[in-house]
Amino acid sequence: MPQTVHYLKDYRAPAHQVPQLDLAFDIFDSHTDVTACLHIEPQQGRADLVLQGSAELLSLRLNGEPLAEGRYTLDGETLTLLDAPAEPFVLEVRTRLYPQDNKTLMGLYASGGNLYTQCEPEGFRKITFHPDRPDVMGRFTTTLSADAARYPVLLSNGNKTDGGLLENGRHWAKWADPFAKPSYLFALVAGDLQCTRDTFTTLSGREVAIEFYTRAEDADKVDFAVQSLKHAMAWDETRFGLEYDLDIYMVVAVGDFNMGAMENKGLNIFNTKYVLADSRTATDADFAGVESVIAHEYFHNWTGNRVTCRDWFQLSLKEGLTVFRDQEFSADRAGALTRIENVSLLRQHQFPEDAGPTAHPVRPASYVEMNNFYTMTVYEKGAEVVRMYHSFLGEAGFQRGMRRYFERHDGQAVTCDDFRAAMADANGRDFGQFALWYSQAGTPVLQASGYLKDNGDYVLTVKQSIPPTPDMADKQPMMMPLKVALFSAENDTLGEQTEFRLPESSEACREAVLVLHQAEQEFVLQGVGRAVVPSLLRGFSAPVQLDYPYSDADLSLLLAYDSDAFARWEAGQTLYRRAVAANEAALLSGSPLPAHEVLMQALAEVLAADLAAGFRALLLQVPPEAELWAERENIDPLLVHRAREALLDALAVRFLPQLHALEQEAAQQEAQADAAVRYEYMPELATWRSLRNVCRALILRAEPQHIDTVAERYAELAGNMTHEWGLLSAANHHPGPQRDALLNRFAEKFSDQALVMDKYFTLIAASRRADTPAQVRAALQHPQFSLENPNKARALLGAFSRNVPHFHAADGSGYAFIAEQVRRIDAFNPQVAARLVQAFNLCRRLEAGRQNLMRQELQALAQAPDLSKDTREIVEKILAA
Ligand code: TRP
Ligand code: ZN
Repeated sequence: MPQTVHYLKDYRAPAHQVPQLDLAFDIFDSHTDVTACLHIEPQQGRADLVLQGSAELLSLRLNGEPLAEGRYTLDGETLTLLDAPAEPFVLEVRTRLYPQDNKTLMGLYASGGNLYTQCEPEGFRKITFHPDRPDVMGRFTTTLSADAARYPVLLSNGNKTDGGLLENGRHWAKWADPFAKPSYLFALVAGDLQCTRDTFTTLSGREVAIEFYTRAEDADKVDFAVQSLKHAMAWDETRFGLEYDLDIYMVVAVGDFNMGAMENKGLNIFNTKYVLADSRTATDADFAGVESVIAHEYFHNWTGNRVTCRDWFQLSLKEGLTVFRDQEFSADRAGALTRIENVSLLRQHQFPEDAGPTAHPVRPASYVEMNNFYTMTVYEKGAEVVRMYHSFLGEAGFQRGMRRYFERHDGQAVTCDDFRAAMADANGRDFGQFALWYSQAGTPVLQASGYLKDNGDYVLTVKQSIPPTPDMADKQPMMMPLKVALFSAENDTLGEQTEFRLPESSEACREAVLVLHQAEQEFVLQGVGRAVVPSLLRGFSAPVQLDYPYSDADLSLLLAYDSDAFARWEAGQTLYRRAVAANEAALLSGSPLPAHEVLMQALAEVLAADLAAGFRALLLQVPPEAELWAERENIDPLLVHRAREALLDALAVRFLPQLHALEQEAAQQEAQADAAVRYEYMPELATWRSLRNVCRALILRAEPQHIDTVAERYAELAGNMTHEWGLLSAANHHPGPQRDALLNRFAEKFSDQALVMDKYFTLIAASRRADTPAQVRAALQHPQFSLENPNKARALLGAFSRNVPHFHAADGSGYAFIAEQVRRIDAFNPQVAARLVQAFNLCRRLEAGRQNLMRQELQALAQAPDLSKDTREIVEKILAA
């Protein structure tokens, strides 16, 4: 089956607009009938009208008249109305849907007896026939009718305008959305759900009704999400000057959902994972996740809905910008250290994507299946690209750009270039070269070096290069901000932040944003006059890989003194990377493991320093394998893994007394908190708990016998889910029966809590124990497991695919297992399968033996005649590399 490739360069404006769309859904037990009245406005005179659609077609009428057979063609994906009228006309399309049988979770589907939709990016075409593309925008009305007892709640976008009772126990409701929107923002929910209400008063004094819909038994877990929404609404008013624009904001939680959440206008639909949270069942990290996803979807109301994307290549226009906004919100709510977490996530997941077979620019140039492009690159690297405008322009300039963007484009479907132009024009800047960030994939590498001249000036040289990616070999230098500072390396002023002047200014500064735009540049920082260590890429000012020939002593100095939290943390990370590399070399040559004295000494000092708990927790984080094998070839994953484990073992043994002391200190901090809120989520307490859990894991590493104390005192220690998760994660690798007993107790305690059972399955799959593969296979049969539920599949199989020693087992059994599950899932949910199969992205960079084993699995998948286009696109990219 030939794959249809869609290209950005082929974009053509739509030949027909649909400014008004009236939908009616008649819901029955076995099916749902849809009547869609499309009010069509031809844009180019008489032309064929091409509609996307794959639903069962019941009837077609043009201006009220049944359409004769020969007037249209139908091929399973498109309906073409031949030689359609030049004047506006109404097309009535009736389709029949079977939501109970829809396991793709796109279009209209059933979950737990209720009905939900997911239309982004191309799900609307599974509901009716429509020019299903984001630059076709219209006003929607939606009428729903259903059995009143089975479906007491009937929701759609906008405001409820009418409703009532019908015969036979049925009822109906009509919704009207006053804002024109693309079809991907359409949503409908019908079912038996409980509503939790609140209100928000906007800055201009309008009252907005807030309604959260959940299963009745989950209603006691929505309060945090409701409060998060209100915080997000207020924050967007003060930081961005943006107010909500409808009278009602609804959020519906559903347990079966392909991703995190969806920003449908006025009717967000959410994965339960990002709505439901109480301290008994959700960790502090889960709470932070709820807060950020609630904010993310809310922020889309302006960046995504009021101004939307012209085509799907522009996805990062809304996603990169909205992730930047939610990151800024979370930094304001939960603290500035979230920046380090964002960077860590980017490097762990986006850098490998950018260096692998599926690498693509922030604005992809082509796709086969759009669902495959909801990626770390489009979202997270896209957010870094937006952050770079902010770094260049400052907050005031960035907000000027945002205002220009809304003035120009409110109500339109636009491109990343339009955003760039608004930023440039509002500030009189030239961002021409900056466009390359949207078209060139690959993580740029900066090679920097510096020296002190005799006259006291510091000279910094920076070379940039962008590695080739499968889509492009030769690349041009890009424009990016490089934030720098200097720290004294002289004894009497050791670690002092040292002032300098830039040639273009007479003022002394402590920090500067240098603008890179050439393959090689030299910067003179004047008047330094002492030996210094440069602090580069402060705040991670650009999404690049930075190489500077730091000595270990330089890194220790930055770790001790740098005033930028990211740069300080990064100095420690670089020391860790070097230590793992040294362990690898020792393991290979069979020599004793090095003592890592410089690292250990630096850590000892930093652990003794008066630092925030959250920062100490981050400083104790050793880069994960996925980050460690960045930029490498011929990888032996187990060697990297063992070298990293050995470093963790050494850290645990060396710092055992300090870890016990820190653990105690963290326990006391919590004990001092008011008993009523002690175990609740609060950013400050969360940082202590995260430090405590880092310590717990290292302590159990050094003292495995400690597991008996954990088991005995479990009930007392497990004050909330953050503690339970920390204890179980720490105990999870223990080979003894105590670990199984703890996990079994956990599964019994939470057997009725789907989101906690996800955690149980993740623990099973993430263990380094030898019997993990057998336990994972057994878990597939667990009564609480379901492959059809994406959260469950991700919890068990996603976690297994990240379990380095087991997924990369030398005999290929881990690869075979994941390939087998990919095939099973692909048969009913291609989107989830196409994500799981990306566990094989590492293929070409592995050592020859594993590369062959992976390749065999991939080739077998590629041979499968019925493989979805989603999974096939990924498999073929990996094999082509
Ligand atoms: N636009 C959504 C967001 O950014 C994500 C999304 C895209 C999605 N496609 C989806 C969610 C399909 C669920 C299913 O939050
Ligand atoms: Zn989004």
